[in-house]
Parts: sequence; C-alpha cells; structure tokens
Amino acid sequence: MSGKVFLIGAGPGDPELMTLRALRMLQEADVVVYDRLVSAEVLSQHSEGARLIPVGKAPKCHTVPQDRINEILLEEADAGHTVARLKGGDPMIFGRGSEEAAYLMANDIAVEYAPGITAAQGASCSTGVPLTHRGLATSVQYVTGHRQADKVLDLDWKRLADPESTLVVYMGVANIGQIAMGLMTENLPGSTPVMAVGSATTPEERRLVSRLDQIASDVRKADLEAPTLFIIGQVVSLYAEQPMAELFEQAQAHG
Ligand SMILES: C[S@@+](CC[C@H](N)C(=O)[O-])C[C@H]1O[C@@H](n2cnc3c(N)ncnc32)[C@H](O)[C@@H]1O
Repeated sequence: MSGKVFLIGAGPGDPELMTLRALRMLQEADVVVYDRLVSAEVLSQHSEGARLIPVGKAPKCHTVPQDRINEILLEEADAGHTVARLKGGDPMIFGRGSEEAAYLMANDIAVEYAPGITAAQGASCSTGVPLTHRGLATSVQYVTGHRQADKVLDLDWKRLADPESTLVVYMGVANIGQIAMGLMTENLPGSTPVMAVGSATTPEERRLVSRLDQIASDVRKADLEAPTLFIIGQVVSLYAEQPMAELFEQAQAHG
C-alpha cells in the first residue's frame, strides 16, 4: 500500500511559529525530506527513528535538482512511508510546493497540507513593521526578486510601484539595485523607506533600515546574507518610531 506525503510549512525559523498541524504531521512521519531554510530547532521536532533526507538548496547551488526531489518523495511514498516534506515558511509561497503536489497526485500519491507562516509575516511581527496600516498601505504584494540563471528580471514595475501598497521582495539581495531602479523609474519616490530583514525570527536576525535610492549600496556595505527579504513602503516609517500602544490609540481615534 502507498504511503502519503505531508507538505508542511515550517515557518520562518522560530519553532514557536509552527502550526499545531505542522507539528503533528512532522511527528507522524517516518521520513523527513527537508530544505536548507528549515531551522535546526524545527527539524529536531521529528519523531524518534525518523529518517532525515536533506535536499537543501543554497542560492546558485542546487544540491538536489527539483526533478530528483520529486522522485525521492514518490519513491518514499511508494515504499509505504509517511513522508514529511518540510519547507521553510509556507510551502505554497515561492516554495514549489504546488509543483511537488501536482507531481505526486499525478502518480496517485495522497498529499495533505499544513500551511506555514511565510517569511514576510514572520519579519513583520518580529520587527513590529505592519504589512498594511490604515492611511499608509491598503494592500501588500509579495514578489520574487530572482529569476532562473538565464532569465532577465522582467517584473511589472508599473504595478509594483504603488505608493499605497507594501511590497515584500523575496530572494532579492542580488538584484536589489535593479529592483529599486525599476520602481523609481515608475515614479516610486527614492525617499520611500525600505527595511531589509535577514534570518527573521531567529537569534541571527538582522535589520537594516534605508530608503529606495540608497538600499543597494547599504546592502553591499552591510554584506547581508541569505535568507533576507525587503519590505518596501511607507509602513517601514513606523519602525521603532512609536510604541505599538500609541499606534493603537491613533487607530482608535480614527474610528
Ligand atoms: C525560496 S524562498 C522560500 C519562501 C518560503 N516558502 C516562505 O514562505 O517564506 C526563499 C526566500 O524567502 C525569504 N526568507 C525565508 N526565510 C526567511 C527569514 N527567516 N528571514 C528573511 N527572509 C526569509 C528570503 O527572501 C529567501 O531568499
């Protein structure tokens, strides 16, 4: 009889940010296939005797190609195992979770999901910078700042350069100069505040506050390492300026 695959979001790093479902599924699994972004603390929650298979991908260094990862999941499930496919953040946000699920389901393997707290939400709550805020940002957009090696970064700059929206850029360290330029070309002011957050929610978390026209050189000087994301927009101006209690009072006053 075939096993099944749990597609689990491990969250951004802090083990307290796993959902109860994610934890239960991880503890039920007898094989755990995990990515590089999964923190050691999260991974250590696996059941005793579970077999661990790392398939971590470092930037520009795909340790195990995606096709091979798909095959590993299929082979393990076909052998009757309960497989935890553990991914950083949420498996369905820049995580290729849906590609793996489609491959498994096409091969008659049952897939169950546990959503995870995506890096943007983890960074937002650990820094206190909201992703939306009345009067500053009415929406939030998540975008990847990375394209496959031979492809250009052809994002829809006009749509992204919305002064009333927060933009969160994943995988953007290498291209942040190009991203800032694309947004400024579509009239997002160079003074727009930007925050880079590295290793959010972990003891190694790093924060860098800058502005759109300076972020590229600031990132170079700070030598930020992966994983890092960028929060771009007026919400960043709230960082540490006011205690959350005051913001709450203001929101109440606005009705
Ligand atoms: C392949 S994407 C995976 C995203 C993941 N599925 C999620 O929902 O968070 C990897 C990128 O996510 C971001 N990221 C993941 N974990 C992070 C963390 N703890 N702190 C900051 N950025 C993080 C970085 O931009 C990194 O380059």
